[in-house]
Amino acid sequence: MAWWPENEVELNARRVMEYEYVREVLDYGWHNTRGPGFTGRLEAAFAERFGAEYACSHSNGTATMHSCLMAAGVGPGDEVIIPALTAASTAFAVIHQNAVPVFADLDADTFEIDAQSIRERITERTKAIITVALYGMAPDMDPILAMAKERGIVVIEDNAQCYLGEYKGRIVGSIGDMASFSFQGSKHITCGDGGITITSDERLAEGIRKAAVLGYATLTAKPGATTVPKEIRQDPAFERHERLGWNYRMPEICSAVMLAQLERLDELVAWRCAVADGYREILGGCDWLKAQVVPEGVKHSYWAYAVKLDTEEVTWHQLRDKIVEFGGEPVYGAWRPVHLEPVFREERFYGKGCPNHCPLYKGTPQKYEAGLCPVTERIQPRLFQFRTNYTRDRAGRQFDAVAKATAYFDGRL
Ligand SMILES: Cc1ncc(COP(=O)(O)O)c(C=O)c1O
Repeated sequence: MAWWPENEVELNARRVMEYEYVREVLDYGWHNTRGPGFTGRLEAAFAERFGAEYACSHSNGTATMHSCLMAAGVGPGDEVIIPALTAASTAFAVIHQNAVPVFADLDADTFEIDAQSIRERITERTKAIITVALYGMAPDMDPILAMAKERGIVVIEDNAQCYLGEYKGRIVGSIGDMASFSFQGSKHITCGDGGITITSDERLAEGIRKAAVLGYATLTAKPGATTVPKEIRQDPAFERHERLGWNYRMPEICSAVMLAQLERLDELVAWRCAVADGYREILGGCDWLKAQVVPEGVKHSYWAYAVKLDTEEVTWHQLRDKIVEFGGEPVYGAWRPVHLEPVFREERFYGKGCPNHCPLYKGTPQKYEAGLCPVTERIQPRLFQFRTNYTRDRAGRQFDAVAKATAYFDGRL
């Protein structure tokens, strides 16, 4: 049976190696160009676990997306296709490269980016497609990969929410050209904030590393190669910066926590899946809450258990309030579709009309308005994201409240 901590005390007791590794970092102390090596260990272990050659740790899972775009050479005049339902981070990274985010619609049942919608949006300016494994499940990748391959488009997997998910026997993250993961506090494995990229292409891996560490000339894709050796750095003639980059390094103390978390990845994912099973059981008889459909050959990793309200009789807020009334915790809805957020609707970017009205952009300027992605716009207000990182005591109370709330609206209570 999957590990499922009874309460916070049991959860904390499991963090033995996290404490141990953090102690090692503290005992080592802080130095300019050397550390106790956790970043290198984390990157090597992560790459191996996800079937990639290279991993590059970052300060968060937004920075990772930005580095991937920089490594892919995405810039002014380019278009990047992304799903309309994602963290705005995915779209912001595109804007920061002065490229044009092109929003694709979702599949109404899987809630994932729809390959047909991507097909309709591809142009000769499409440089990259970012697929998002929303709620912990991969989109239908094969047709996306086929389209991308045919046209030389880069595929970046945003797997902020997906750990150990599978797609037709492949681990999610090893499918596209590059993949990005987030270690933010709500994710399967976390150090509060952090992120990592993986790829098996050395050129891309080095590009990511340099994007993440100020474009330093001597950096490589090797695990932990995030600093320039002292003897080189001390030389006043050393030309450090061969290209543009940001400082997106992950602190060693976070790498230490993450290495320990990675060592526990199986149990942490299994726990989420066990909680998802619990929701499936209590909602099995409710025909007006439709769970995210998991296609054959796909393994979900359940960052959240997502359901769609499929009735006109009950509103989102009524159900949410009823769950709270029955002693449950407040439930999350989905983000607003990104193209309808004020920053996009009103193109509050860098103030000079870019990227849509950049002289280097030869496409039709995108209009970020209602109607752009009708499926997303229809289902987003109806989605519930049930949390899956509940200890057994909290999950019990939540299951009870959700079951009672649905029974209430069914007239059984
Ligand atoms: C799908 C998705 N992409 C990107 C991000 C950004 O990650 P971070 O918060 O680590 O910057 C998140 C989550 O927070 C996310 O859920």
